[in-house]
Amino acid sequence: MVARVIPVAPFDLVIFGATGDLARRKILPGLFSRFRAGQMPADARIIGSARSNFDKAEFRELIHHALKEFVDKELRPQEKLDAFLDQLDYVHIDATGDAGWQELKDTLRDDTTRTFYLSVSPSLFGPIAERLSTRGIATEDSRIVVEKPFGHDLASAKALNAELLEYFTERQIYRIDHYLGKETVQNLMALRFANSLFEPLWNSTHIDHVQITVAEKLGVAGRGGYYDQSGAMRDMVQNHLMQLMCLIAMEPPSKFAPNAVRDEKVKVIEALDPVSPQDLVRGQYRAWRDVPGYHADVENPDSTTESFIAMKLAVANWRWAGTPFYLRTGKRMRARSSEITVVFRDPPHMIFPKMEGRKGNALIIRLQPDEGITLRTTIKEPGPGGMRLTEVDMDMTFADALGSDLNSQDAYERLVMDVIRGDQTLFMRGDEVEAAWAWADPLISAWQEAGHKPVPYDVGSSGPEEALMLLHKDGRRWRPVGD
Ligand code: BG6
Repeated sequence: MVARVIPVAPFDLVIFGATGDLARRKILPGLFSRFRAGQMPADARIIGSARSNFDKAEFRELIHHALKEFVDKELRPQEKLDAFLDQLDYVHIDATGDAGWQELKDTLRDDTTRTFYLSVSPSLFGPIAERLSTRGIATEDSRIVVEKPFGHDLASAKALNAELLEYFTERQIYRIDHYLGKETVQNLMALRFANSLFEPLWNSTHIDHVQITVAEKLGVAGRGGYYDQSGAMRDMVQNHLMQLMCLIAMEPPSKFAPNAVRDEKVKVIEALDPVSPQDLVRGQYRAWRDVPGYHADVENPDSTTESFIAMKLAVANWRWAGTPFYLRTGKRMRARSSEITVVFRDPPHMIFPKMEGRKGNALIIRLQPDEGITLRTTIKEPGPGGMRLTEVDMDMTFADALGSDLNSQDAYERLVMDVIRGDQTLFMRGDEVEAAWAWADPLISAWQEAGHKPVPYDVGSSGPEEALMLLHKDGRRWRPVGD
């Protein structure tokens, strides 16, 4: 299947923090990929901006190196690289001072949409937004893009929102959660709302429980300073897992439009019951053989920050009352595997002999890697011996069904192109971020006030025993990580 590429209108994109890690690893390789695909017009311009006193040639050289490092060789023919680099410009700017702002203003074109991507520390959101606005650089239809972490609690998220809203309207603000840019995450919406098959069953009458697992193999080495202040709850649950939860639990929006979708997501977050301490497990990986443990990775022997968290959630509304959602995420687990398992209830009356070890019908949505869907069904075991039942997987891997090319688009390339097209559907609205913090804050304060310490788990495991017990005590089981 061939992807359809619709070129976007010419644009001026200014990337603040253009020499930083995210810009070099994700944003510019993503833009290059869209350029290669023919989506970026020849008169689009990308203007890098940072503290470094580079000239245009030095900046192009830096990005040339980054593209060589982060884009596969066969995907970057030299003539394409040269043509892309030609569209890059650079303005040295002091984000909190005066230098460079007039030059930036002079560089931008009057008749072209302006997008300002803030790939910088959140403490610079306010100063940059202010300068863009008060110096007449941002126009009415300009867009501003901000990265996570969007606050570390409700108060700081509110403060960031207030800072941005002083100079931009909500319609201009694009808050990135890169999980929403993943092809398979969007597919959750297609699966639910483009098929009539699942929706009639999508409620507590038919669904026993839902499991959401985002397991990572990597540890936190290299980002220890940030991570130790954050932990799995702030780094993953408040944003990425919450978004997955919303897409699974939300009501069908009346249309596929930014506010219609986001209204429904906010309602899910607001319907969450408080989580009781016995429904929450925090873990921290410990050293195993030559793999260092969390304390060594963050260089903080006393750290009580969690690198793993599991919890049971209840969505208090008509659709979901009685169907728990179990969430877990952690670093240094046995595999990199993100998936959602929707486990259906048993038939109300079984006419066949009891089947040993029956797991029941389940829809398993694999988000990464090996993106696809499995439907676990019960059938008759072939051959003689009476009516014996067995379970089989109806399996579809998207790469086989659709061709691997469709999945190769990185989350960032889609999101950046959406900003340029002016589509906010896959971006978090201010009230959505605040609702997620309002939910997370009391949980975090409760364990901080209780002086709670995370339980240890082995590197390469499925997390602590206590997390397995979270389901066992309800008579349920996690799907094995990376199965
Ligand atoms: C980031 C977190 O937002 O998401 C990281 O800060 C995490 O800690 C990453 O590793 C996971 O993203 P992905 O796309 O690799 O699943």
